[in-house]
Amino acid sequence: MQINRHFLQLSENYLFSEVAKRTRTFQAQHPDLTVIKLSIGDVSLPLPAVVVQAMRRACSEMGHRQTFRGYGPEIGYPWLRRTIVDFYRTQYGVKLDDDEVIVSDGAKSDLSNLLDIFDTKVTVAMCDPVYPVYLDTNLMLGRQPQFFRATVANNFLPMPSAEITADIIYLCNPANPTGVYYNRAQLKQWVDFARAHGSVILYDAAYACFINDPSLPRSIYEIEGARECALEICSLSKMAGFTGVRCGYTVVPKNLVTTDGISLNRLWQRRQSTKFNGVSYIVQRGAETVFSAEGLAAVERNLAYYRRNVKLIRRTLDQLKWSYVGGKHSPYVWVRCPGMRNAWECFDFLLQETGIVCTPGIGFGTAGENYIRLTGFNSYANTRLACQRLLALAQKKH
Ligand code: MLT
Repeated sequence: MQINRHFLQLSENYLFSEVAKRTRTFQAQHPDLTVIKLSIGDVSLPLPAVVVQAMRRACSEMGHRQTFRGYGPEIGYPWLRRTIVDFYRTQYGVKLDDDEVIVSDGAKSDLSNLLDIFDTKVTVAMCDPVYPVYLDTNLMLGRQPQFFRATVANNFLPMPSAEITADIIYLCNPANPTGVYYNRAQLKQWVDFARAHGSVILYDAAYACFINDPSLPRSIYEIEGARECALEICSLSKMAGFTGVRCGYTVVPKNLVTTDGISLNRLWQRRQSTKFNGVSYIVQRGAETVFSAEGLAAVERNLAYYRRNVKLIRRTLDQLKWSYVGGKHSPYVWVRCPGMRNAWECFDFLLQETGIVCTPGIGFGTAGENYIRLTGFNSYANTRLACQRLLALAQKKH
């Protein structure tokens, strides 16, 4: 049996599976301890009521012959794509065509599957540290990415440079895992660079909902020239609590064409219609409601809740005098490991001493060797408890 031997290049487990495995082992050894997960970016608030009602109605429609629906359009129902186009116009001032928005079961799938439409020999560049899906999916294809490192020296915001020669450039803004963000001028430099080099930007906007400053870009299409070089990958997971529901979309502008005139939008639609049967009707009705006035108000309330958690984490880190970045316009805080520990040592230390689960920075790349990532996605009560435990730990160590 010939297997894809590139899989052997991967680490033994996917980062978040490894963290979950170690957490389960620890919890089994300490059954009475409240283990607090500030690790994977999974939401803790339930779906907005208005979304649940829409899905209930859709569910009921599916139970009646007159309103039952079988296969839907592979790229998403027209009413959902139109709703998203309206959202871009009213919220971002960005004009899209309905068929530039292609609905899917989430950003993780799209980020992986988009590689299908590019030549096997393309080169890719990504940040170090990075969301592990970008790296692992390329390693699976036998590619060795170029990395641009996010370090103290560049304020964790690497900019384009002559060393980057790749066909595909991954950008995540606000960034996972560092929680920092590019402003308009910085993003413009990336767009100009991509256009000058004929590169395509895969722009992961999964955390754009956390930006609450209108001077910052929430879509790459707010930047002039981006329609010619960027695909935007979006998710309802963090925005509307869809991590377990699964719905996202990717914007593929029709201006994005190869030098010989082939449209990436056409290729992506072709790929999706062959390999994907679309997101369920029920989920798409729920997603449609997210973009209604009532849905967006509920989304804002939930985001405010998570922002409050992150603020508390940052305040605690300030008290502890631990150095960190992120946590503004982002659910993630990127923390320098205290006490000269490396990332996994720090993970074990925090788990053993406080029952707090973090994500070890090394899991996002070598630049994360001495960092951990914390999230604001847990409940406020748990976040407060975690912060109290960190402060108590510091007291104990003195
Ligand atoms: C993360 O923790 O980085 C994300 O939740 C992972 C994901 O969205 O797949």
